[in-house]
Amino acid sequence: MADKSKNILIIGAGTIGASWAALFLAFGHSVHIYDIRKDVQDFVHDELQLMLKTLLPELSDSRRNVLVGRVMYELRLEEAAANPTLSLIQDNGPENIEYKQTLWANIEKVAPKEATFISSTSTITATIQSKFMQDPTRLIVAHPFNPPHLLPLVEIVPGEHRDESRVEALMDFFKGCDREPVYVRKETEGFIGNRLAFLLLRESLHLVEQGVVSAEDIDKVVTSSLGIRWSIDGPFRSYHMGGGRGGLKHFLTHLGPAIGSVWKSAGTPDLSPELIETAANQTHEAYGSVKDEMFEQRDRLTREVLKMRDETRREHEELTHDTKPFIFCTSIKVREGGTSPESAYP
Ligand SMILES: NC(=O)c1ccc[n+]([C@@H]2O[C@H](COP(=O)([O-])OP(=O)(O)OC[C@H]3O[C@@H](n4cnc5c(N)ncnc54)[C@H](O)[C@@H]3O)[C@@H](O)[C@H]2O)c1
Repeated sequence: MADKSKNILIIGAGTIGASWAALFLAFGHSVHIYDIRKDVQDFVHDELQLMLKTLLPELSDSRRNVLVGRVMYELRLEEAAANPTLSLIQDNGPENIEYKQTLWANIEKVAPKEATFISSTSTITATIQSKFMQDPTRLIVAHPFNPPHLLPLVEIVPGEHRDESRVEALMDFFKGCDREPVYVRKETEGFIGNRLAFLLLRESLHLVEQGVVSAEDIDKVVTSSLGIRWSIDGPFRSYHMGGGRGGLKHFLTHLGPAIGSVWKSAGTPDLSPELIETAANQTHEAYGSVKDEMFEQRDRLTREVLKMRDETRREHEELTHDTKPFIFCTSIKVREGGTSPESAYP
């Protein structure tokens, strides 16, 4: 087991919790799971088998079975949270304010003093969730993109009361799991990634509603242009180059009036039943019903894109800064000093 191995309690192991469990196991951490669903062991077992196949494709079936068998299922939450060896307690339960506020107030009473509490919430800030806690600095939002065992981003969003050393330690933990934590310094609705994504979705729905273009063609536009560019460059680096040698300043000065005019014409559609029906029908016509194979395909192809993106990221860093080298494993890349996935191999 890796020397930086942590003991982690995952509360709620549905879509997101099971995916975190796969990642933590792959990086040599010990995983305890508490979930109220009756079939939690069967569900998590099947999910982990699939996810670990993608995450550690070189692992033999028998070694993967041993890894999956290491998960400890807990029956009583308060007993589980009182385990003195826990470093992290993570909630991936329902997106419900009352549930999360009650959960943390109760957990705080029994959890070891050093343990940090993290929430995968998409919308409920740490300040709101920690309302009934004695020490709200112990709770930090660590918002992933689905599925967190594949997509590297983790938005780290502490509340109004924060302990910078705890935030930094959490950032280091996620870096050690080959994630890319981004410190969101002010709590903002939807954090960052979803704010950006939902704006694109809003304009996409507006264009479909206005009959400018079909849902399928919007997907084509994104995957044949912006999507490719954005896995290499974000909007700032990308438009910095868009301005030629004059950089972003020239780009925004030169094209500013045109950009402003497009912003003014952007749509603000209501999510009316008619619009939902139109968008859903067009999407169904293009792709049919959602099938299990689509998830397998999405995850496999995402890994391929990630391999290319990791190489690009390394080249960017070399070009811009002198940074720490990366070590490339056959399937997962880890930063020097991070926990190695090999250490998780039984
Ligand atoms: N699904 C996404 O795309 C996504 C992305 C980022 C963040 N999130 C956040 O992750 C969290 C979980 O979302 P999800 O999509 O995995 O939901 P989900 O419904 O798939 O899973 C929730 C799990 O919590 C369990 N649960 C319910 N009540 C519980 C309780 N009292 N104690 C313990 N477990 C309980 C359920 O049995 C279920 O297994 C939410 O806060 C959500 O905002 C979701």
